[in-house]
Amino acid sequence: MGYTEVLIEAQGLTKKFDDFTAVDHIDFKVYKGECVGFLGPNGAGKTTTVRMMYCFLPPTSGELKLAGLSVNTQCREIKSLVGVAPQEDNLDPDFTVIKNLTVYCRYFDIPKDEALKRSNEQLKFFQLEEKRDVPIAALSGGMKRRLIFARALINQPQILLLDEPTTGLDPQARHLAWDEVRELKKKQVTIILTTHYMDEAAILCDRVLIIDKGKIIEEGKPADLVKKHVGEEVLEIDYDKTLLPTLKEAFPGADFERLGDRLQIFTDKPHGVFEGFLQEHPMQNVTIRSANLEDVFLKLTGRGLREE
Ligand SMILES: Nc1ncnc2c1ncn2[C@@H]1O[C@H](COP(=O)(O)OP(=O)(O)OP(=O)(O)O)[C@@H](O)[C@H]1O
Ligand SMILES: [Mg+2]
Repeated sequence: MGYTEVLIEAQGLTKKFDDFTAVDHIDFKVYKGECVGFLGPNGAGKTTTVRMMYCFLPPTSGELKLAGLSVNTQCREIKSLVGVAPQEDNLDPDFTVIKNLTVYCRYFDIPKDEALKRSNEQLKFFQLEEKRDVPIAALSGGMKRRLIFARALINQPQILLLDEPTTGLDPQARHLAWDEVRELKKKQVTIILTTHYMDEAAILCDRVLIIDKGKIIEEGKPADLVKKHVGEEVLEIDYDKTLLPTLKEAFPGADFERLGDRLQIFTDKPHGVFEGFLQEHPMQNVTIRSANLEDVFLKLTGRGLREE
């Protein structure tokens, strides 16, 4: 796809909390209309980065611009064109569901009638109509997440920052959220999406940045990263230390990753190589499956067997 206009740009972006560096000199660009996933283990620095984008936290150093506007000096302008679904619940507990939306509209000077119309539309889409007039405390966890997502859309933002928008959603609601993201992409809305669901990132994101310990350690299209780091297939067997020498001999150059009591073997060898091995070494509890983005994530951010 021909992405040309840079909408978000970070250069040497850094955030320190006292001596601790949460975001460590990162550089990235996001183009208009792109959906970019921020993936990384707990504490990687995803939320901190997103918070700097909507001026919730000032960077310690480096540059960060949204639509050409600097987070250091142009926060008011930035806030008007950004929609934010933060990771934490920051709904107003003193207001009802509908009022959380209509009051939020005031920050954007949306006229009253229009505010009510948009708020009702969002409640309908996110299937919260029944809860329209209840206080926030009467919502379930997933309903709160849905309301936070709905609120992020209320100002029809050009840039949408979604920090774990689907955590805690039931499967139906998650599909609803995905549909919404797809609709927004069609409208050329630029989206940053943090998620721990690798299937979600693979489905929705044009590109992902993998962040670990405050640094971007890899980036690319989900399918390209799978090809580059994992190959086509993964063999999964029960972990058995005594088998390791045989396995290493059978799959020279392959990567071995232990996940609990299972061992995963990634090889770039052609299709059928695992089947050949299994014929010679029949085993129980074997799975051969397609490689996916979760494999990439675990391989790049996990602890390989080498460290054992
Ligand atoms: N206000 C703060 N004061 C001190 N340390 C902080 C603060 N906010 C975040 N941190 C630290 O910065 C690091 C990055 O946190 P951040 O919330 O950005 O991680 P994350 O990638 O969003 O993780 P998660 O997947 O758990 O949401 C963590 O080590 C965290 O403890
Ligand atoms: Mg976070």
